[in-house]
Amino acid sequence: MKIETILTPTELPALARRDLRQTACVVFDILRATSTFVTALHHGAAAIVPVSEIAEAVALRKQQPDILLAGERAGVRIRAAQSGGMDFDFGNSPREFTPEKVRGKTIVSTTTNGTRALRVGAGAQCVLAAAFLNLTATADFLRRENFAEILLVCAGTGDNVALEDVLAAGALIELLTAREDGRVSLSDASQIALEAFTNLKLTDSGDLGAALGDSENGRRLLAMPELRADVAFCAQRDVFDLVAGLDADGALRRVCA
Ligand code: MLT
Repeated sequence: MKIETILTPTELPALARRDLRQTACVVFDILRATSTFVTALHHGAAAIVPVSEIAEAVALRKQQPDILLAGERAGVRIRAAQSGGMDFDFGNSPREFTPEKVRGKTIVSTTTNGTRALRVGAGAQCVLAAAFLNLTATADFLRRENFAEILLVCAGTGDNVALEDVLAAGALIELLTAREDGRVSLSDASQIALEAFTNLKLTDSGDLGAALGDSENGRRLLAMPELRADVAFCAQRDVFDLVAGLDADGALRRVCA
């Protein structure tokens, strides 16, 4: 098994030129897009449709009035003034996506980095959205399916690396390599991610919540009273036993393993 990692979103355009047909892509946007999507699917959403632009989301809603709209810009829910007159139903806080609100619903979401990263692996053998919330379920799926090549995509923030995404990639690599006795080949970027996660466990008593809170995104969310609890929420490990995968129609759904 070969594991590569993309640490920053500036590497995403090169993916479009790569043949990914034998590659499983795993996208991380821990604070918060992939954590939110995994939560919504766990709470019974039928599908999440990631789109890059606000206008795409609005156009889909006009075609299908029963879909719900979600998304953020600068971390905050998209309002009518930004979307040509439509207040979005949700922001991008996982805690908003309760079973009562999402059960059976299709949700179109546009976020700054997460939804773009998810769309970039369109030609891949499979594209998964992963979070600390469902990390072991994702690792078990990847191992069971025996993919020869795995590409971990850290969605980042703007053009920059985001610590929490790299830590999640490292945690997944740790799970994937644990029982493989050297049969895994890691790219340098994968080794960097693994070392970042291993270092965290050595130096910070394994306190993921504190590490996420120290990241740039964590500090930004902690400074917003209504969003600060998102950091601790997204730092929970393995609370959901589900795998989230993109289907051929571009929608994210629970993978039935
Ligand atoms: C993103 O997609 O860039 C993030 O998830 C942003 C956020 O939730 O604040």
